[in-house]
Amino acid sequence: MEVKDSIRARRSIRKYRSKSIPREALEELLEAARLAPSSSNLQAWNIVVVTDKATKNTLVPASGNQGFVGECSAYLVGVAEADYNAIDIAIALDHISLRAVELGLGTCWIGDFDPQMTKKILGIPDNLKVHICMTLGYPAQSPPARKRKQMDELFFRDKWSAKWK
Ligand SMILES: Cc1cc2nc3c(=O)[nH]c(=O)nc-3n(C[C@H](O)[C@H](O)[C@H](O)COP(=O)(O)O)c2cc1C
Repeated sequence: MEVKDSIRARRSIRKYRSKSIPREALEELLEAARLAPSSSNLQAWNIVVVTDKATKNTLVPASGNQGFVGECSAYLVGVAEADYNAIDIAIALDHISLRAVELGLGTCWIGDFDPQMTKKILGIPDNLKVHICMTLGYPAQSPPARKRKQMDELFFRDKWSAKWK
């Protein structure tokens, strides 16, 4: 599968099969994140990979009661100290989301979460911040592609005033 195929096939998955991810597959995904670029190559981020069922269930109320957080095989919690490192985490998690498609797995970004509750449950130190999370697991649904804006709504050519044609 080429990168363009994963980009096209990726969907937000909110229903998961009850199946754990083999260690090798999980490590392939984490390797995709490890190789991601970061500001000054500082790699100033961490991801807590939560596979323990009881812990995932505890995280449901910390994630806007989105039940599929408890049903996914792994819940990925993106942590860093500085706000600008949120970009690095997003790139790393995006690598995971695209590699996941190749491995028959699905993901969903989770932005609706309570950072303080999440930190407390996972024992994340005070000086660090949870920036974004992601569910990961074997899809139990095949959602259709959601609509995207047209090129000329998103891009400008050379100057702000010149729409992409
Ligand atoms: C930063 C970010 C946060 C998101 N947070 C949530 C969330 O908390 N819950 C959820 O169900 N989907 C969440 N989504 C998924 C979006 O709703 C989804 O990507 C969008 O509707 C497009 O659908 P698609 O991913 O299937 O193409 C989030 C996506 C992003 C990029």
